[in-house]
Amino acid sequence: MEDKELYRIAEKAFENAYAPYSNFKVGAALLAADGSVFTGVNVENSTYGATICAERAAVAKAVSEGAREFSKIAVASSGGGAWPCGICRQFMYEFSPDLRVITGDDEEHLQAHSLNKLLWKGFRLEQK
Ligand code: THU
Repeated sequence: MEDKELYRIAEKAFENAYAPYSNFKVGAALLAADGSVFTGVNVENSTYGATICAERAAVAKAVSEGAREFSKIAVASSGGGAWPCGICRQFMYEFSPDLRVITGDDEEHLQAHSLNKLLWKGFRLEQK
């Protein structure tokens, strides 16, 4: 699947974000090795700390459905492009260290980097 198409899915996804505290709605679209796509949104919480980001929501959904290998993730938000936070980088690195991470203000201005670059020398046990 092309980056633009995955990004469009992420854009559509952020409409479902639950972000009453930050008003920053994020959507992620995660492409699995078998071609299936899992979306995620940020789900905030009144404790703030219990908030989950869109990227982790997408990975948790995917793993729950049996997918563990991923090729790309696109992230879109109500505020434009958003690179994944540090916790999400580590969470994704567990499964796919060379994941292609895509974001941008709109589908005509996408940027992409390998997760390996965004989380240089990340920690991972080879046990899957
Ligand atoms: N957030 C994400 O969902 N993903 C990102 O890549 C950046 C941050 C969420 C967490 C919180 O709900 C809101 O954006 C503001 O930080």
